[in-house]
Amino acid sequence: MRKQRTYKQYRQGKNKRRKLTGAATSLSSLASLAAAARAQEDETVKGLLRAVQHTQDPEIAQDAFEYLYALATEQVVEPDLFAPAIDAEEAQGEIELGIVKNSGCVFGLNRNELCQHTLVLGRSGSGKTTCIKTLLQGLIMLSDTFVPAPRIQVFDIKKDYIDLVNLYPNVWLFRLPGSDFRWNPLEPPIPNCQRWAAILAGVFANAAGFYGGMSTENLIYRYLLELYRKYDTGRKIYPCLFDLRDYLRWLDVYKKVDKRSEEYRWFVRIQNRVESLCEALGETVNCSHGYPLAEVLGHHTIFEMAELKQDAQSFFTETFLTQGVWHRMDRQERGGKLTTLGVFDEAKRLMPKYREEAQQAISNMSNILAFGREFGVGFLVGECDPALLSNSIKSSCYSQFCFSQTGGRDVADSARALGLDPEQATEIRRLAVGETIVRLADRIKRPFVLQVTP
Ligand SMILES: Nc1ncnc2c1ncn2[C@@H]1O[C@H](COP(=O)(O)OP(=O)(O)OP(=O)(O)O)[C@@H](O)[C@H]1O
Ligand SMILES: [Mg+2]
Repeated sequence: MRKQRTYKQYRQGKNKRRKLTGAATSLSSLASLAAAARAQEDETVKGLLRAVQHTQDPEIAQDAFEYLYALATEQVVEPDLFAPAIDAEEAQGEIELGIVKNSGCVFGLNRNELCQHTLVLGRSGSGKTTCIKTLLQGLIMLSDTFVPAPRIQVFDIKKDYIDLVNLYPNVWLFRLPGSDFRWNPLEPPIPNCQRWAAILAGVFANAAGFYGGMSTENLIYRYLLELYRKYDTGRKIYPCLFDLRDYLRWLDVYKKVDKRSEEYRWFVRIQNRVESLCEALGETVNCSHGYPLAEVLGHHTIFEMAELKQDAQSFFTETFLTQGVWHRMDRQERGGKLTTLGVFDEAKRLMPKYREEAQQAISNMSNILAFGREFGVGFLVGECDPALLSNSIKSSCYSQFCFSQTGGRDVADSARALGLDPEQATEIRRLAVGETIVRLADRIKRPFVLQVTP
């Protein structure tokens, strides 16, 4: 793709060029030129046209004509579906990611944008993880120069990110399962146990795939409350997941629930999930107090979970992130300043489309995204099957990156999420490895192609 000139570059070169005289400079002809140049939505062009309309100044009209004429000619000679070019000023950001293809400018994201969540889409091998790593490296290197210092929490299911530990000594690595890391999902990140029981019941029901009804969630909530009552939670002594498992076993033996009843079927489903989580997470969850949450959140951390069963990966990620957001909310750390960036490469596991459809309501994760935004917890999620991803995540991410895709359904879904026109959508199939279409909710109002720097 050629490098197109921005308006600033055009102004700088203008004096050297011969003037185009006698050309039509009426507003309608300028608007047609803007359309031919694919620049109707460009803010600079809109500003120029407004200036022509309000001032009626022939010199400004001439200037606008020459600029649009140059753009339209470039479009004919070598079409760029993402014209006009992005300005260096518009493109610059705190954490640099790569080069904008049609202007050669360096593009970066800012912390306040990361706080509003980032979605990285693309087929397998298209460059998602490389892009996420570039961003994480930038953030790690700059983190101590920022106030507050943001920290990354990576939930790594494919051992993609563990080499960051060798590159940066201040990055912690925990391997799950095992005794490397201690964590108690029943340890509330807020002072009110009852409140946490309700939140945890929702997370558990979601992560376990119990959608479409409150009955199982209410039942889990009841068991959690009953269990908490048996412990001196006022003195911060909490049951662990194994205690929940033992309590359910005890209920099964001593509580005479009719085995043919619906309640018993729900009970069995919950019990099976808890047994399965205990088995998968093992020593990690065998504790009343886990590693202090504030301390973990205060460091760059990678949780390597490649050996963990899939349901346990989702449960750990969703619960830990929920604990993190509630921890910040409890401390009233408001203001949208990035403190934590949660990274997960399989977004559909946390926010699957079918969960939203079955529940016909917004999921726990959608709430967590909304709270996170306000309390400085940003999410950076990757996904290779965008069509399987909930609509709420696609509509609530400030930044979306779309790498190459081949499946018709995924191309259409990504094009819709990024608001691409039909011609731009065809480009999704043509992107090379490491190239991505970027769409921001604000700052740069149109999509553009970025070459990610590995
Ligand atoms: N920006 C880039 N520049 C050059 N090469 C790249 C770039 N991004 C990715 N690659 C190459 O493509 C390979 C696959 O990239 P990556 O692992 O990032 O893909 P992915 O989308 O995360 O795949 P998967 O969905 O399987 O996890 C990398 O090993 C690297 O060799
Ligand atoms: Mg990957």
